[in-house]
Amino acid sequence: MHHSLIADLLCAKAPMDSVTVCGWIRSRRDAKNFSFIAINDGSTRTHLQCVIDADTEAYANLGDANNGASVCITGSLVPSQGAEQAWEIHGKTLTLLGTVDPDYPLQKKRHSDEFLRTIAHLRPRTNKYGAMLRIRAEAAFAVHRFFHENHFYNVQTPILTGSDCEGAGEMFRVTSLDASAPQDANDFFSKPCRLTVSGQLEGEALALALGKIYTFGPTFRAEHSNTPRHVAEFWMIEPEVAFCDLNELMDLAERFVQSVIGSILDRAANDLALFDQFVAKGLLDQLKQTHANSFARLSYAEAIDILTQAKTTFAYPVHYGIDLQTEHERYLAESFCKKPVFITDYPKDIKPFYMRVNDDGKTVAAMDLLVPGIGELIGGSQREERQDLLQSRMAECGQKPADYWWYTDLRRFGSVPHAGFGLGFERLLMMLTGISNIRDVIAFPRTPGSLDF
Ligand code: 4AD
Ligand code: MG
Repeated sequence: MHHSLIADLLCAKAPMDSVTVCGWIRSRRDAKNFSFIAINDGSTRTHLQCVIDADTEAYANLGDANNGASVCITGSLVPSQGAEQAWEIHGKTLTLLGTVDPDYPLQKKRHSDEFLRTIAHLRPRTNKYGAMLRIRAEAAFAVHRFFHENHFYNVQTPILTGSDCEGAGEMFRVTSLDASAPQDANDFFSKPCRLTVSGQLEGEALALALGKIYTFGPTFRAEHSNTPRHVAEFWMIEPEVAFCDLNELMDLAERFVQSVIGSILDRAANDLALFDQFVAKGLLDQLKQTHANSFARLSYAEAIDILTQAKTTFAYPVHYGIDLQTEHERYLAESFCKKPVFITDYPKDIKPFYMRVNDDGKTVAAMDLLVPGIGELIGGSQREERQDLLQSRMAECGQKPADYWWYTDLRRFGSVPHAGFGLGFERLLMMLTGISNIRDVIAFPRTPGSLDF
Protein backbone atom coordinates (compact mmCIF):
# COMPACT_ATOMS: atom_id res chain seq x y z
CA MET A 1 0.00 0.00 0.00
CA HIS A 2 1.65 3.21 -1.07
CA HIS A 3 1.04 5.67 1.75
CA SER A 4 2.54 8.64 3.57
CA LEU A 5 3.68 8.70 7.16
CA ILE A 6 1.72 10.94 9.48
CA ALA A 7 5.00 12.34 10.85
CA ASP A 8 5.82 13.63 7.35
CA LEU A 9 2.34 14.95 6.60
CA LEU A 10 2.24 16.97 9.80
CA CYS A 11 5.32 18.89 8.58
CA ALA A 12 3.81 19.56 5.12
CA LYS A 13 4.56 22.99 3.65
CA ALA A 14 1.44 23.20 1.47
CA PRO A 15 -1.94 21.46 1.03
CA MET A 16 -2.02 18.30 -1.06
CA ASP A 17 -4.83 17.03 -3.27
CA SER A 18 -4.41 13.37 -2.70
CA VAL A 19 -2.59 11.60 0.10
CA THR A 20 -3.05 8.17 1.62
CA VAL A 21 -2.53 7.30 5.29
CA CYS A 22 -2.79 3.95 7.01
CA GLY A 23 -3.15 3.55 10.75
CA TRP A 24 -5.26 2.72 13.76
CA ILE A 25 -8.22 4.74 14.97
CA ARG A 26 -7.47 6.28 18.35
CA SER A 27 -10.78 8.07 18.77
CA ARG A 28 -13.93 8.85 16.87
CA ARG A 29 -16.43 11.64 17.28
CA ASP A 30 -19.64 11.74 15.24
CA ALA A 31 -21.31 15.01 14.33
CA LYS A 32 -24.45 15.46 12.27
CA ASN A 33 -22.87 15.51 8.84
CA PHE A 34 -19.50 13.89 9.41
CA SER A 35 -17.26 11.81 11.61
CA PHE A 36 -13.92 12.95 12.98
CA ILE A 37 -11.47 10.14 13.42
CA ALA A 38 -7.99 10.49 14.93
CA ILE A 39 -5.48 8.16 13.30
CA ASN A 40 -2.10 7.05 14.63
CA ASP A 41 0.38 5.13 12.49
CA GLY A 42 3.29 4.88 14.93
CA SER A 43 5.44 7.40 13.06
CA THR A 44 4.78 10.08 15.65
CA ARG A 45 2.99 10.57 18.93
CA THR A 46 0.62 13.08 17.29
CA HIS A 47 -2.60 11.75 15.75
CA LEU A 48 -3.85 12.94 12.39
CA GLN A 49 -7.45 14.06 12.30
CA CYS A 50 -9.51 12.79 9.37
CA VAL A 51 -12.92 14.15 8.49
CA ILE A 52 -15.33 11.77 6.73
CA ASP A 53 -18.54 13.21 5.26
CA ALA A 54 -21.67 11.36 6.22
CA ASP A 55 -23.10 10.93 2.72
CA THR A 56 -20.01 9.27 1.21
CA GLU A 57 -19.01 5.72 0.46
CA ALA A 58 -16.02 6.26 2.78
CA TYR A 59 -18.46 6.82 5.61
CA ALA A 60 -20.39 3.67 4.72
CA ASN A 61 -17.14 1.71 4.72
CA LEU A 62 -16.21 3.12 8.11
CA GLY A 63 -19.44 1.67 9.51
CA ASP A 64 -19.31 1.65 13.28
CA ALA A 65 -15.52 1.17 13.41
CA ASN A 66 -13.99 2.80 16.45
CA ASN A 67 -10.95 2.85 18.72
CA GLY A 68 -8.38 0.22 17.63
CA ALA A 69 -9.71 -0.49 14.13
CA SER A 70 -7.22 -0.22 11.27
CA VAL A 71 -8.00 1.91 8.24
CA CYS A 72 -6.51 3.19 5.02
CA ILE A 73 -7.76 6.62 3.98
CA THR A 74 -7.13 8.64 0.84
CA GLY A 75 -8.12 12.28 0.70
CA SER A 76 -6.86 15.84 0.61
CA LEU A 77 -4.52 17.35 3.15
CA VAL A 78 -5.93 20.73 4.17
CA PRO A 79 -5.24 23.25 6.93
CA SER A 80 -7.01 22.15 10.08
CA GLN A 81 -9.84 24.13 11.63
CA GLY A 82 -8.87 22.84 15.07
CA ALA A 83 -6.16 24.52 17.11
CA GLU A 84 -4.31 21.32 17.98
CA GLN A 85 -2.82 20.51 14.62
CA ALA A 86 -1.80 22.30 11.46
CA TRP A 87 -3.23 19.79 9.00
CA GLU A 88 -6.10 17.38 8.67
CA ILE A 89 -7.38 15.05 5.99
CA HIS A 90 -10.71 15.25 4.25
CA GLY A 91 -11.27 11.64 3.37
CA LYS A 92 -12.51 10.63 -0.08
CA THR A 93 -12.05 6.89 0.14
CA LEU A 94 -11.69 4.68 3.19
CA THR A 95 -10.92 0.99 3.51
CA LEU A 96 -11.61 -0.67 6.82
CA LEU A 97 -8.65 -3.08 7.06
CA GLY A 98 -9.34 -4.65 10.42
CA THR A 99 -12.36 -4.41 12.70
CA VAL A 100 -12.10 -4.67 16.47
CA ASP A 101 -13.77 -7.29 18.62
CA PRO A 102 -15.76 -5.86 21.53
CA ASP A 103 -13.24 -7.06 24.11
CA TYR A 104 -10.40 -4.79 22.84
CA PRO A 105 -8.57 -4.08 26.11
CA LEU A 106 -7.21 -0.62 25.28
CA GLN A 107 -9.83 1.92 26.21
CA LYS A 108 -9.43 5.66 25.91
CA LYS A 109 -8.86 6.03 29.65
CA ARG A 110 -5.40 5.74 31.18
CA HIS A 111 -4.42 2.17 32.10
CA SER A 112 -2.04 1.14 34.86
CA ASP A 113 1.47 -0.02 33.96
CA GLU A 114 0.74 -3.33 35.72
CA PHE A 115 -2.28 -3.97 33.52
CA LEU A 116 -0.44 -2.98 30.37
CA ARG A 117 2.30 -5.52 31.13
CA THR A 118 -0.34 -8.24 30.82
CA ILE A 119 -1.05 -7.09 27.26
CA ALA A 120 2.50 -6.47 26.08
CA HIS A 121 1.40 -7.30 22.52
CA LEU A 122 -0.95 -4.30 22.48
CA ARG A 123 0.69 -1.76 24.78
CA PRO A 124 2.94 -0.38 22.01
CA ARG A 125 -0.27 1.16 20.67
CA THR A 126 -0.63 3.45 23.68
CA ASN A 127 0.85 6.94 23.56
CA LYS A 128 3.31 6.22 26.35
CA TYR A 129 4.72 2.93 25.06
CA GLY A 130 4.78 4.20 21.49
CA ALA A 131 6.87 7.15 22.69
CA MET A 132 9.13 4.89 24.77
CA LEU A 133 9.79 2.58 21.80
CA ARG A 134 10.57 5.47 19.47
CA ILE A 135 13.00 6.89 22.05
CA ARG A 136 14.52 3.43 22.42
CA ALA A 137 15.13 3.21 18.68
CA GLU A 138 16.57 6.72 18.57
CA ALA A 139 18.85 5.93 21.54
CA ALA A 140 20.13 2.74 19.85
CA PHE A 141 20.97 4.79 16.79
CA ALA A 142 22.69 7.43 18.96
CA VAL A 143 24.82 4.71 20.58
CA HIS A 144 26.04 3.46 17.21
CA ARG A 145 26.63 6.97 15.93
CA PHE A 146 28.68 7.99 18.97
CA PHE A 147 31.00 5.02 18.68
CA HIS A 148 31.22 5.17 14.92
CA GLU A 149 32.18 8.86 15.04
CA ASN A 150 34.79 8.09 17.70
CA HIS A 151 36.42 5.35 15.59
CA PHE A 152 35.19 2.34 17.54
CA TYR A 153 34.42 -0.85 15.64
CA ASN A 154 31.12 -2.55 16.32
CA VAL A 155 31.86 -6.24 16.97
CA GLN A 156 29.56 -9.16 17.62
CA THR A 157 30.52 -11.48 20.47
CA PRO A 158 28.98 -14.93 21.07
CA ILE A 159 25.68 -15.45 22.83
CA LEU A 160 26.37 -19.13 23.51
CA THR A 161 29.35 -19.45 25.81
CA GLY A 162 31.36 -21.87 27.89
CA SER A 163 32.71 -19.31 30.37
CA ASP A 164 31.24 -17.14 33.11
CA CYS A 165 32.59 -13.62 32.65
CA GLU A 166 31.28 -12.16 35.88
CA GLY A 167 32.02 -15.30 37.91
CA ALA A 168 28.71 -14.86 39.66
CA GLY A 169 27.26 -18.16 38.43
CA GLU A 170 23.99 -16.54 37.41
CA MET A 171 23.79 -18.13 33.99
CA PHE A 172 21.07 -19.82 31.97
CA ARG A 173 21.94 -23.33 30.85
CA VAL A 174 21.48 -24.19 27.17
CA THR A 175 21.19 -27.81 26.02
CA SER A 176 20.13 -29.67 22.89
CA LEU A 177 19.19 -32.74 24.94
CA ASP A 178 15.68 -33.59 26.06
CA ALA A 179 16.82 -35.45 29.14
CA SER A 180 15.98 -33.80 32.43
CA ALA A 181 19.57 -34.27 33.60
CA PRO A 182 21.75 -33.28 30.64
CA GLN A 183 24.90 -35.33 30.10
CA ASP A 184 27.61 -32.88 29.21
CA ALA A 185 29.59 -35.42 27.18
CA ASN A 186 26.64 -36.20 24.90
CA ASP A 187 25.51 -32.64 24.58
CA PHE A 188 25.95 -30.49 21.49
CA PHE A 189 29.26 -28.92 22.48
CA SER A 190 30.45 -31.87 24.61
CA LYS A 191 30.65 -29.44 27.51
CA PRO A 192 28.22 -27.22 29.40
CA CYS A 193 26.90 -24.31 27.39
CA ARG A 194 25.31 -21.16 28.78
CA LEU A 195 23.85 -17.86 27.62
CA THR A 196 26.36 -15.05 27.94
CA VAL A 197 26.24 -12.57 30.83
CA SER A 198 28.67 -10.23 29.08
CA GLY A 199 30.69 -10.06 25.86
CA GLN A 200 33.62 -8.49 27.68
CA LEU A 201 36.18 -11.31 27.57
CA GLU A 202 35.84 -11.78 23.81
CA GLY A 203 35.63 -7.98 23.48
CA GLU A 204 39.06 -7.72 25.09
CA ALA A 205 40.55 -10.10 22.52
CA LEU A 206 39.13 -7.94 19.73
CA ALA A 207 40.26 -4.64 21.32
CA LEU A 208 43.76 -6.06 21.57
CA ALA A 209 43.75 -6.23 17.79
CA LEU A 210 41.46 -3.43 16.61
CA GLY A 211 42.20 -0.88 19.32
CA LYS A 212 38.70 0.37 20.08
CA ILE A 213 35.63 -1.85 19.84
CA TYR A 214 32.14 -1.98 21.25
CA THR A 215 29.38 -4.55 21.44
CA PHE A 216 25.66 -3.85 21.64
CA GLY A 217 23.86 -7.09 22.20
CA PRO A 218 21.57 -9.17 24.37
CA THR A 219 22.86 -10.54 27.68
CA PHE A 220 21.19 -12.89 30.11
CA ARG A 221 21.21 -13.15 33.89
CA ALA A 222 19.49 -15.80 35.92
CA GLU A 223 19.51 -13.70 39.07
CA HIS A 224 16.37 -14.08 41.10
CA SER A 225 16.17 -10.40 41.87
CA ASN A 226 12.63 -9.21 41.47
CA THR A 227 13.39 -5.49 41.46
CA PRO A 228 12.38 -2.55 39.28
CA ARG A 229 15.94 -2.51 37.89
CA HIS A 230 16.59 -6.13 36.91
CA VAL A 231 15.46 -8.20 33.96
CA ALA A 232 16.73 -11.62 32.94
CA GLU A 233 17.35 -10.55 29.33
CA PHE A 234 18.74 -7.10 28.68
CA TRP A 235 20.82 -5.28 26.11
CA MET A 236 24.31 -4.23 27.06
CA ILE A 237 26.70 -1.81 25.39
CA GLU A 238 30.32 -2.77 26.07
CA PRO A 239 33.16 -0.63 24.75
CA GLU A 240 36.69 -1.96 25.24
CA VAL A 241 39.73 0.21 24.61
CA ALA A 242 43.40 -0.69 24.25
CA PHE A 243 46.03 1.68 25.68
CA CYS A 244 43.50 3.15 28.09
CA ASP A 245 43.48 3.67 31.86
CA LEU A 246 40.67 4.14 34.36
CA ASN A 247 40.56 7.95 34.11
CA GLU A 248 40.36 7.91 30.34
CA LEU A 249 37.65 5.26 30.63
CA MET A 250 35.56 7.53 32.87
CA ASP A 251 36.04 10.41 30.45
CA LEU A 252 34.75 8.16 27.68
CA ALA A 253 31.73 7.00 29.70
CA GLU A 254 30.83 10.57 30.58
CA ARG A 255 31.08 11.81 26.99
CA PHE A 256 29.11 8.80 25.80
CA VAL A 257 26.18 9.21 28.19
CA GLN A 258 26.06 12.95 27.51
CA SER A 259 26.16 12.41 23.77
CA VAL A 260 23.21 9.99 23.81
CA ILE A 261 21.22 12.42 25.98
CA GLY A 262 22.07 15.23 23.54
CA SER A 263 20.80 13.17 20.58
CA ILE A 264 17.54 12.38 22.33
CA LEU A 265 16.99 16.01 23.35
CA ASP A 266 17.52 17.00 19.71
CA ARG A 267 15.73 14.26 17.89
CA ALA A 268 12.97 12.97 20.15
CA ALA A 269 11.63 16.20 21.66
CA ASN A 270 7.97 15.42 20.97
CA ASP A 271 8.15 12.02 22.65
CA LEU A 272 10.28 13.31 25.54
CA ALA A 273 7.66 15.98 26.23
CA LEU A 274 5.14 13.23 27.04
CA PHE A 275 7.40 11.84 29.76
CA ASP A 276 8.21 15.29 31.11
CA GLN A 277 4.49 16.06 31.35
CA PHE A 278 2.95 12.78 32.48
CA VAL A 279 5.62 10.45 33.86
CA ALA A 280 8.46 12.36 35.52
CA LYS A 281 7.98 16.07 36.03
CA GLY A 282 11.27 17.93 35.61
CA LEU A 283 12.76 15.22 33.39
CA LEU A 284 13.77 17.61 30.62
CA ASP A 285 15.57 19.92 33.02
CA GLN A 286 17.38 17.02 34.58
CA LEU A 287 18.47 15.65 31.21
CA LYS A 288 19.72 19.08 30.16
CA GLN A 289 21.71 19.35 33.41
CA THR A 290 23.24 15.92 32.95
CA HIS A 291 24.04 16.77 29.36
CA ALA A 292 25.80 20.02 30.25
CA ASN A 293 27.62 19.35 33.55
CA SER A 294 30.50 17.06 34.38
CA PHE A 295 29.85 14.03 36.58
CA ALA A 296 31.17 13.68 40.13
CA ARG A 297 33.99 11.25 40.99
CA LEU A 298 34.54 9.64 44.40
CA SER A 299 36.61 6.72 45.56
CA TYR A 300 34.84 3.82 47.25
CA ALA A 301 36.57 4.78 50.54
CA GLU A 302 35.24 8.34 50.25
CA ALA A 303 31.78 7.00 49.43
CA ILE A 304 31.82 4.81 52.55
CA ASP A 305 32.80 7.83 54.68
CA ILE A 306 29.95 9.85 53.20
CA LEU A 307 27.47 7.04 53.82
CA THR A 308 28.60 6.52 57.43
CA GLN A 309 28.15 10.22 58.10
CA ALA A 310 24.74 10.39 56.36
CA LYS A 311 21.73 11.33 58.47
CA THR A 312 19.68 8.70 56.63
CA THR A 313 19.34 5.25 58.22
CA PHE A 314 19.95 2.53 55.70
CA ALA A 315 18.28 -0.89 55.81
CA TYR A 316 21.67 -2.44 55.01
CA PRO A 317 24.39 -1.24 57.44
CA VAL A 318 27.42 0.53 55.99
CA HIS A 319 31.04 -0.38 56.63
CA TYR A 320 34.20 -0.59 54.51
CA GLY A 321 34.05 -3.78 52.44
CA ILE A 322 30.31 -3.97 51.74
CA ASP A 323 28.96 -4.20 48.23
CA LEU A 324 26.98 -0.99 47.80
CA GLN A 325 23.23 -1.60 47.79
CA THR A 326 20.77 0.37 45.70
CA GLU A 327 19.77 2.51 48.70
CA HIS A 328 23.42 3.53 49.13
CA GLU A 329 23.94 4.12 45.44
CA ARG A 330 20.87 6.29 45.23
CA TYR A 331 21.86 8.28 48.32
CA LEU A 332 25.25 9.05 46.81
CA ALA A 333 23.88 10.11 43.41
CA GLU A 334 20.56 11.68 44.38
CA SER A 335 21.07 13.23 47.79
CA PHE A 336 24.80 13.78 48.10
CA CYS A 337 26.14 14.58 44.62
CA LYS A 338 22.76 15.46 43.05
CA LYS A 339 24.14 14.25 39.73
CA PRO A 340 25.74 11.15 38.22
CA VAL A 341 28.78 10.01 40.17
CA PHE A 342 31.59 7.58 39.39
CA ILE A 343 32.68 5.46 42.34
CA THR A 344 36.20 4.11 41.85
CA ASP A 345 38.70 1.77 43.47
CA TYR A 346 36.45 -0.81 45.11
CA PRO A 347 37.92 -3.47 47.40
CA LYS A 348 39.03 -6.36 45.19
CA ASP A 349 37.03 -8.89 47.23
CA ILE A 350 33.71 -7.60 45.93
CA LYS A 351 34.75 -7.37 42.27
CA PRO A 352 35.43 -9.95 39.52
CA PHE A 353 38.83 -11.47 38.71
CA TYR A 354 39.58 -9.45 35.60
CA MET A 355 39.84 -6.04 37.26
CA ARG A 356 43.34 -4.55 37.60
CA VAL A 357 44.76 -4.65 41.11
CA ASN A 358 45.90 -1.24 42.37
CA ASP A 359 49.32 -0.66 43.92
CA ASP A 360 47.82 -0.94 47.43
CA GLY A 361 47.16 -4.62 46.65
CA LYS A 362 43.69 -4.29 48.18
CA THR A 363 41.58 -2.32 45.74
CA VAL A 364 40.99 -2.61 42.00
CA ALA A 365 40.88 0.01 39.23
CA ALA A 366 37.12 -0.30 38.91
CA MET A 367 34.43 2.28 38.33
CA ASP A 368 30.65 2.20 38.62
CA LEU A 369 28.54 5.09 37.39
CA LEU A 370 25.61 5.75 39.72
CA VAL A 371 22.78 7.99 38.58
CA PRO A 372 19.88 9.64 40.40
CA GLY A 373 16.65 7.66 40.35
CA ILE A 374 18.28 4.40 39.22
CA GLY A 375 21.55 3.58 40.95
CA GLU A 376 24.11 1.67 38.86
CA LEU A 377 24.04 2.53 35.18
CA ILE A 378 27.56 1.45 34.25
CA GLY A 379 30.10 -1.03 35.60
CA GLY A 380 33.64 -1.06 34.24
CA SER A 381 37.33 -1.25 34.99
CA GLN A 382 40.87 -1.21 33.80
CA ARG A 383 41.71 -4.86 33.08
CA GLU A 384 44.46 -6.87 34.73
CA GLU A 385 47.02 -6.99 31.91
CA ARG A 386 49.76 -8.69 33.99
CA GLN A 387 49.71 -12.44 33.52
CA ASP A 388 50.95 -13.42 37.00
CA LEU A 389 48.55 -11.12 38.82
CA LEU A 390 45.63 -12.23 36.66
CA GLN A 391 46.34 -15.85 37.47
CA SER A 392 46.56 -15.26 41.19
CA ARG A 393 43.29 -13.28 41.11
CA MET A 394 41.65 -16.16 39.24
CA ALA A 395 42.81 -18.55 41.92
CA GLU A 396 41.51 -16.24 44.68
CA CYS A 397 38.14 -16.01 42.93
CA GLY A 398 37.94 -19.79 42.52
CA GLN A 399 38.20 -19.72 38.72
CA LYS A 400 40.06 -22.42 36.82
CA PRO A 401 42.74 -20.79 34.63
CA ALA A 402 42.32 -23.69 32.17
CA ASP A 403 38.78 -22.51 31.44
CA TYR A 404 40.17 -19.13 30.43
CA TRP A 405 43.35 -20.25 28.67
CA TRP A 406 42.79 -18.03 25.65
CA TYR A 407 42.01 -15.04 27.90
CA THR A 408 45.26 -15.41 29.83
CA ASP A 409 47.08 -15.96 26.52
CA LEU A 410 46.26 -12.37 25.66
CA ARG A 411 48.58 -11.42 28.54
CA ARG A 412 51.41 -13.51 27.09
CA PHE A 413 51.32 -12.12 23.57
CA GLY A 414 51.71 -8.36 23.42
CA SER A 415 49.69 -7.44 26.48
CA VAL A 416 48.75 -3.76 26.87
CA PRO A 417 46.93 -1.67 29.47
CA HIS A 418 43.28 -1.64 28.49
CA ALA A 419 39.91 -0.82 29.95
CA GLY A 420 36.22 -1.11 29.23
CA PHE A 421 32.75 -0.86 30.67
CA GLY A 422 29.25 -2.23 30.32
CA LEU A 423 26.16 -0.03 30.23
CA GLY A 424 22.71 -1.57 30.60
CA PHE A 425 20.64 -0.16 27.74
CA GLU A 426 17.37 -0.53 29.64
CA ARG A 427 18.75 1.42 32.59
CA LEU A 428 19.80 4.17 30.20
CA LEU A 429 16.23 4.24 28.90
CA MET A 430 14.91 4.56 32.43
CA MET A 431 17.12 7.61 32.76
CA LEU A 432 16.02 9.05 29.42
CA THR A 433 12.29 8.60 30.00
CA GLY A 434 11.91 8.77 33.78
CA ILE A 435 10.12 5.39 33.65
CA SER A 436 10.73 3.84 37.06
CA ASN A 437 10.25 0.13 36.28
CA ILE A 438 12.64 -1.61 33.89
CA ARG A 439 9.78 -3.85 32.68
CA ASP A 440 8.35 -0.80 30.97
CA VAL A 441 11.37 0.18 28.87
CA ILE A 442 11.66 -3.12 26.96
CA ALA A 443 8.92 -4.39 24.69
CA PHE A 444 8.72 -7.94 26.04
CA PRO A 445 10.38 -8.12 29.48
CA ARG A 446 11.74 -11.39 30.87
CA THR A 447 11.62 -11.66 34.66
CA PRO A 448 11.42 -14.59 37.11
CA GLY A 449 8.26 -16.57 36.45
CA SER A 450 7.26 -14.48 33.45
CA LEU A 451 7.85 -15.73 29.90
CA ASP A 452 4.68 -14.74 28.06
CA PHE A 453 4.85 -13.23 24.60
O1 4AD B 1 28.17 -4.43 36.24
P1 4AD B 1 27.97 -5.55 35.25
O2 4AD B 1 27.63 -6.88 35.76
O3 4AD B 1 29.32 -5.55 34.40
C1 4AD B 1 29.67 -6.47 33.47
O4 4AD B 1 28.97 -7.36 33.03
C2 4AD B 1 31.01 -6.17 32.84
N1 4AD B 1 31.51 -7.41 32.21
C3 4AD B 1 30.87 -5.05 31.85
C4 4AD B 1 32.17 -4.65 31.22
O5 4AD B 1 33.06 -4.17 31.91
N2 4AD B 1 32.29 -4.83 29.93
O6 4AD B 1 26.86 -5.10 34.21
C5 4AD B 1 26.99 -3.91 33.46
C6 4AD B 1 25.69 -3.12 33.46
C7 4AD B 1 25.22 -2.68 34.84
O7 4AD B 1 25.88 -1.51 35.26
C8 4AD B 1 23.74 -2.46 34.59
O8 4AD B 1 23.49 -1.21 33.96
C9 4AD B 1 23.42 -3.54 33.60
O9 4AD B 1 24.62 -3.93 32.99
N3 4AD B 1 22.80 -4.72 34.22
C10 4AD B 1 21.49 -5.01 34.16
N4 4AD B 1 20.48 -4.39 33.56
C11 4AD B 1 19.26 -4.95 33.68
N5 4AD B 1 19.00 -6.09 34.31
C12 4AD B 1 20.00 -6.78 34.92
N6 4AD B 1 19.74 -7.93 35.54
C13 4AD B 1 21.31 -6.23 34.87
N7 4AD B 1 22.51 -6.63 35.34
C14 4AD B 1 23.40 -5.70 34.93
MG1 MG C 1 28.02 -4.02 38.23
